Amino acid sequence: MSNTRIRAAITGIAGYVPDDILTNEELSRMVDTSDEWIMTRVGIRERHVLKGEGKATSDMAVEAVKRLFEKTGTKPEEVDLLVWCGVTPDMPFPATANIISYKLGINNAFSFDINAGCSSFLFSLVTMASYIESGRCKKIVLIGAEKLTMYVDYTDRSTCPLFGDGAAAALIEPTTEDIGFIDSITKADGAGVKHLYLPAGGSLLPASIETIVRRQHYIIQDGQTVFKAAVSKMADTTMELMQRNNLTSDDIAWLVPHQANLRIIGATGNRMGLPKEKVMVNIDKFGNTSSATVPLCLWDYESKLKKGDNMIITTFGAGFTWGAIYLKWAYDGAKYASKD
Ligand code: UT7
Repeated sequence: MSNTRIRAAITGIAGYVPDDILTNEELSRMVDTSDEWIMTRVGIRERHVLKGEGKATSDMAVEAVKRLFEKTGTKPEEVDLLVWCGVTPDMPFPATANIISYKLGINNAFSFDINAGCSSFLFSLVTMASYIESGRCKKIVLIGAEKLTMYVDYTDRSTCPLFGDGAAAALIEPTTEDIGFIDSITKADGAGVKHLYLPAGGSLLPASIETIVRRQHYIIQDGQTVFKAAVSKMADTTMELMQRNNLTSDDIAWLVPHQANLRIIGATGNRMGLPKEKVMVNIDKFGNTSSATVPLCLWDYESKLKKGDNMIITTFGAGFTWGAIYLKWAYDGAKYASKD
């Protein structure tokens, strides 16, 4: 009997962002802000916005998965689990994953949603790795997709420049090679709830005329508190993961950080001793897309990724939730160069 160890590996990635773009210039005509303030404090130049009646998170997710199927040659009936993660479901129920599966003709799979704020994709990757390592699943589609601009108060200059819409999907499969998921740290602390949340629309404060008049369906964030916590938790967690896997900065090919603020990304990279070229950044063009930031980065940088590259993924988000994953990238991204 063979004792071969099964690891989970990302074997394909594809993204989709809607066509409409909201620039800093346009925002500065809506609230008292400027391109200069947003670029120096946050690092966002523009963000994509899903517009049009009847357009939902699942529509972006479906486009991303169609591209994923096309480039990896995957058929809908081969998928045995589809998970959507994020904070902007189409509806409170049923799960957005069910809607996505239906729209794609995926009918041999079970599907469900995961919400862990901006750490949704990282926590979901860890969960999906367990499904693969246990032998329970062979082909998983994991999607981070958000219509986050629906929660944005475009009269509040402290939050309205930050968020954007977008989607990206990963194919996750088993491998017996020395690649894929190796280690992870995942953490949560509910003491963070009051610093980043959306007050109304849930069981605590159901939607009503009053909640609308009081503008309680928009993101509330204590930016400075979240900023400080994000910097320390992302840096501490990645350092812990590096130390226990005997990794130095030279061993790491890529850091994939959640894209919430270029200064948070820079601080994390510096603490790990990484040069800028090893740190994935696309916040300038997409803003903070919550669950979609990590897979959108992987999609953006895919052509540069090489099989065996050591990669650290790290996120911080509402909850608070945070964590880091250490993996070895599973394929030469260049092989898909003509397919995106
Ligand atoms: O993805 C989930 C996790 N989220 C995060 O990680 C976000 C973490 N937080 C942040 O990224 C930053 O705290 C923000 C980008 C939200 C804010 O940046 P900051 O450097 O912390 O600014 P601040 O809140 O300390 O505000 C500094 C000043 C204030 O003016 P005064 O009181 O000094 O006169 C603000 O009113 O900047 C002002 N300000 C703005 N000015 C121009 C706040 N927003 C704006 C704006 N344009 N859009």
